[in-house]
Amino acid sequence: RPRVLSGMQPTSDSLHLGNYLGALVQWVALQETHDAFYCVVDLHAITVDVDPATLRERTRRTAAQYLAGGVDPQRSTLFVQSHVPQHAELAWVLGCITGFGEAGRMTQFKDKAGKAGSDRTTVGLFTYPVLMAADILLYQADAVPVGEDQRQHLELTRDLAIRFNGRFGEAFTVPEPFIVKETAKIYDLQDPTAKMSKSAATLSGVIDLLDEPKVTAKKIRSAVTDAEREIRYDVETKPGVSNLLSIHSALSGRPVETLEKDYAGKGYGDLKGDLADLVTTELSPFRERTLAYLDDPAALDDVLADGAAKARDVAATTLAQVYDRVGFLSAR
Ligand code: TYM
Repeated sequence: RPRVLSGMQPTSDSLHLGNYLGALVQWVALQETHDAFYCVVDLHAITVDVDPATLRERTRRTAAQYLAGGVDPQRSTLFVQSHVPQHAELAWVLGCITGFGEAGRMTQFKDKAGKAGSDRTTVGLFTYPVLMAADILLYQADAVPVGEDQRQHLELTRDLAIRFNGRFGEAFTVPEPFIVKETAKIYDLQDPTAKMSKSAATLSGVIDLLDEPKVTAKKIRSAVTDAEREIRYDVETKPGVSNLLSIHSALSGRPVETLEKDYAGKGYGDLKGDLADLVTTELSPFRERTLAYLDDPAALDDVLADGAAKARDVAATTLAQVYDRVGFLSAR
């Protein structure tokens, strides 16, 4: 079976609808055909300031949401990044074949560093994509299911794999991005030209998966649209309506062209009402399941311990080969 690996940062109490449609739904589908590794990337989460108790809580919450979304620990390996020491170890080696300028060209780094200012930007934030490459290459992943915003990081990962293989001999599978066009970028409901993001200025455009259904419905009903009446998919001139259609299509399984026909002659209120129903019908049970997993943290920690043991086996094999290839004296 081909292998997939992906991860999310435990940087908020709830994942949002972009994480769900852009990633989690794809992860669950890929379990059927792939040997899947899904991790909570807590090492990445400390690249910005975070309170320790909050980090621990969010790491569990993120894992609980993977399970609630349908990641099945019987079939997939579900683990926490910091439980597998090889991630940090491989990141060091990869960092030593990464150009300073190459890392400096990462747009997510430039955005985040630009906002924080250089005195408040950490070296960890700079090397973040190198650690992400290590996550992927350790498991010899063939494909990496993510949203569009991770494409540049995957390009770097491929470059590093090819560079290492060329310089030291084949050690890594060169991974392909697995980015589903229709859901690769879900937009903010209040600012439909910006991606839905945990760091949005206002939360009224971000659908958190653990929001109360009433809150979700209200956010959808107040989504920004446009001054026309027509329900038509056109990202350039109708970004708000197009985003609502994309979300509808992803959840209802009806192609956007079919939805345009369904809604001919109807108004934005109809579309929003139906969408609010669709989203809350999907997310209410998701929320219940998440809360149930969080009710039993010991059981959750057991699942994560099993996953970490499986992950360490694979990671240790890759790292041993890498250490040998670079010329480290083997420790007897
Ligand atoms: P993170 O935690 O920001 O996001 C998790 C996943 O959600 C996707 N995503 C979106 N998809 C569609 N529309 C959106 N508005 C949207 N917002 C987020 C992201 O693309 C991602 O797939 N660097 C990664 C975490 C990471 C990782 C890895 C991923 C670390 N190591 C190894 C894959 C493989 C990140 O910050 O994702």
